[in-house]
Amino acid sequence: MVVWQVYSWRLPRRPLLCVYMSSSIIELRNVSKTYSTAAGDFTALINVNMTINAGEFLGVVGKSGAGKSTLLNMINGVDQLTSGEVIVNAGNENISIHKMSEDERAFWRGRKMGVVYQSFQLLPMLTLVENITLPMDLSDNFKPRESKERAMQLLQLMELEEHANKLPAFISGGQQQRVAIARALANDPPILVADEPTGSLDSITADHIFEVFEHLVNDQGKTIVMVTHDVSLMNRFSRSLTIADGELLSEAEPDSKSDKRRKK
Ligand SMILES: Nc1ncnc2c1ncn2[C@@H]1O[C@H](COP(=O)(O)OP(=O)(O)O)[C@@H](O)[C@H]1O
Ligand SMILES: [Mg+2]
Repeated sequence: MVVWQVYSWRLPRRPLLCVYMSSSIIELRNVSKTYSTAAGDFTALINVNMTINAGEFLGVVGKSGAGKSTLLNMINGVDQLTSGEVIVNAGNENISIHKMSEDERAFWRGRKMGVVYQSFQLLPMLTLVENITLPMDLSDNFKPRESKERAMQLLQLMELEEHANKLPAFISGGQQQRVAIARALANDPPILVADEPTGSLDSITADHIFEVFEHLVNDQGKTIVMVTHDVSLMNRFSRSLTIADGELLSEAEPDSKSDKRRKK
């Protein structure tokens, strides 16, 4: 995409990517998550241990119900784990996500982690540029004029600048997802987590989203964790892991475990 060569200089690039490649940016230690439901407790994640390295594009692949969204919600602090530890080392600070309150996690996430969902989740009554400006204005990281300028730069990066003043309903699904990625990048977080971001897109549009992610990892030094049920996407990641029935399989292990999760 030619536009990246033109505009990517405007956004901060991280030098010495190779140095980042081997250092751990997120570590999960014995993470378990049990949901309490009317029908009893259900353990959706069982003793997950994983290390995510800075600068990698990690894919976590698993069937529907395997625990992918639960895993992402432990990493980004949207939900609280039942036991274990999640440690994020972004910006020279080791943060223990599991020790934070919900408000602290939300504040931390706003600065350090961008989140992308399958359903885009743009605010329908705001224009595209306003959707991207909002997280910057909420975080106070940028002055209002800077945030508008940066939102326009991000829209240019996504090749959507001519649509800046449209409402989300007036652009395609693939374009909405690119706006959602631009919004996730608004506060320049080092990490993006994406929950089935191509799940509702056709294969050509999905391919375009992958190109965007690959650019962000290779040229902007971002770390991306993406979960998907689509096994055919496995070779698009720099590394992929498989999750089945709430357990992370070893990197070579096929998805053939029986369901060990407990329903009490
Ligand atoms: N809030 C919840 N309360 C109870 N059970 C849940 C909740 N969220 C997810 N689950 C259950 O946990 C399991 C894993 O769900 P999820 O992480 O959404 O899987 P995936 O994203 O891989 O489809 C599923 O059996 C699901 O029904
Ligand atoms: Mg899910």
